[in-house]
Amino acid sequence: MRLVLSLGGSVFEGGAERIRSFARVLDEISSENELFVVVGGGKLARELIGKARELGANEAMCDYIGIAVTRINAMLLAIAMRNSAKRIPENFIEAQELSKNYSAVVMGGTFPGHTTDATSALLAEFVNADLLLNATSVDGVYSEDPKKNPNARKFERITPSELVKLIANSSMEAGANVVMDLLSAKIIERSRIRTVIFRGEPENILKVLRGERIGTVVEF
Ligand code: UTP
Repeated sequence: MRLVLSLGGSVFEGGAERIRSFARVLDEISSENELFVVVGGGKLARELIGKARELGANEAMCDYIGIAVTRINAMLLAIAMRNSAKRIPENFIEAQELSKNYSAVVMGGTFPGHTTDATSALLAEFVNADLLLNATSVDGVYSEDPKKNPNARKFERITPSELVKLIANSSMEAGANVVMDLLSAKIIERSRIRTVIFRGEPENILKVLRGERIGTVVEF
């Protein structure tokens, strides 16, 4: 299978051992699949974006700061992995080229205006992935932000158009924290990309690939 995994920056915060635990699982997966991983920027990206904004940077410039952090995180994961290319591609064509020689390719963000979730959806579209895995800080898509409203309802399944509607009202400023950005949902919708959104723990990635029903499945 050709897989694209979006690994939210927040999910592997916590030191080298945390990164290594993902690397082990991803090496295992890439020994049997063609794997692309897009790594997020997490807290560090938000901190540095905040600093840049205070210094007068506009939103697109802030996005470039975020992209730089995602690429550093991608390097850290690539270092920890056995099977992956050590060069971090800057765009999808480079990623595809690298994948001819490596079973795993790790990258960060590409250009301003969206998060690594959208990067991963666009990459999944570009490489014709069989499955898009979105490993995030919540265990699926909720009717509202579960951190703000404990009564929020989790969807086991959601259609792409419902997902688009749900996300449409969320904030889009640099470093904003929503389950997925609008562009990702639109790309998933237009290219009918099979997608699972779940809590980013190494064993959860294996569970999804074994077909266990965790998180939220985007169904058509
Ligand atoms: P993230 O994808 O980490 O955003 O990119 P996030 O919303 O913090 O995601 P989680 O919480 O880790 O899942 C960090 C920032 O980098 C910029 C955006 O500003 C984003 O908020 N970015 C990232 C881009 O502008 N373009 C990209 O392709 C990727």
